[in-house]
Amino acid sequence: MGNKTILVTGGAGFIGSHTTVVLLEQGFDVVIFDNLFNSKASVIDRIERITARRPSFVQGDIRDRDALARVFESFPIDAVVHFAGLKAVGESVEKPLLYYENNIGGSLNLYEAMGAAGVKRLIFSSSATVYGESNPTPYFEDFPLSCTNPYGWTKLMNERILRDLCAADPAWSAALLRYFNPGGAHRSGLIGEDPAGIPNNLLPYAAKVAAGRLEKIHIYGDDYDTADGTGVRDYIHITDLARGHVLALDYIEGRPGAAAINLGTGKGTSVRQIIAAFEKACGKKLPAVVDPRRAGDLPQTYANADLAKKLLGFETNFGIEDICADIWRWQQFALTLDS
Ligand code: NAD
Ligand code: UFG
Repeated sequence: MGNKTILVTGGAGFIGSHTTVVLLEQGFDVVIFDNLFNSKASVIDRIERITARRPSFVQGDIRDRDALARVFESFPIDAVVHFAGLKAVGESVEKPLLYYENNIGGSLNLYEAMGAAGVKRLIFSSSATVYGESNPTPYFEDFPLSCTNPYGWTKLMNERILRDLCAADPAWSAALLRYFNPGGAHRSGLIGEDPAGIPNNLLPYAAKVAAGRLEKIHIYGDDYDTADGTGVRDYIHITDLARGHVLALDYIEGRPGAAAINLGTGKGTSVRQIIAAFEKACGKKLPAVVDPRRAGDLPQTYANADLAKKLLGFETNFGIEDICADIWRWQQFALTLDS
């Protein structure tokens, strides 16, 4: 592998920046295309500090067809890793058209621009949310799919579009990577997740409590039918997740069609276990209260991770303790960026 040019849409964001690091480390050239809606241009400098290589950066929006066409004219793109999208479940319920315009409309523009440029290899950021509410855990890739909110539907519709595209044209190959709960940060502490405002997700919320920026963790329900009553999820370290994309790029080479693959660890961890791991990482007790269940939450979700191992040779290297320790290191650095 190596010496190929990969277009990473949304490459300045959380998962995109970590995937860019792994791609650069493995010898790929990277072009990041991002509108910086949910990220900062300074991440490009920090990627360079980590890898001693600088990705090309184009500030642009996937809803802008001309901007996409120019990228394919300007760079010898071999394949695309497509992260650009909006991802707040609650916001998607309030602003469905924004989510369909950005995540579906923008993606259609991207696939059209790719086809016009003869670039027909794609890795798509899907989500475990496509397993809906009715499936038993662990989730297998061939389960029936459904969604409960517009964000989820944008993922499922993109999967459908890419399956149809691959069926119509055997030159296309795509991996539909269904992420479970990404967490952690780069071991250097230089890049990580940096949500604006009050985080929706447990890991960044716990990090802000540990940093004294928020008062206490709210545990959304401790009366679920799980070992300790709190919600169980499959937390995957961002560096493992990033590596999965590079393995998937190798896998789709010369394999027409669309393959849906879970990227998870296959293990579930409860909210209370996360809090305990975070307390160990930051060396202090984190205040927490039990609140009612959050609307729409499932008791437990975790992956069956066999297909990723079989097709990609993918296995995770990091666990919950690494995830919490790395977030904590990043959180302390992020505070210096704010000030
Ligand atoms: P992120 O918000 O950190 O990164 C997304 C990036 O896309 C941001 O830098 C943003 O500025 C950019 N972007 C958004 N709309 C754009 C547009 N129209 N044109 C160009 N750039 C645009 O999010 P992330 O956590 O890195 O997620 C990346 C992808 O993975 C998303 O598609 C998300 O839905 C998916 N995903 C994330 C999770 C998660 O829990 N983090 C789970 C499952 C799936
Ligand atoms: N939780 C708390 N307190 C918080 C936040 C979350 O107790 O402040 C609990 C939730 O109830 C759940 C667990 O912690 O049991 C994880 O919640 P997150 O919000 O961190 O993650 P979710 O599993 O709810 O959401 C993730 C992605 C979504 C995706 C969804 C379904 O963030 O994008 O998985 O796949 F849609």
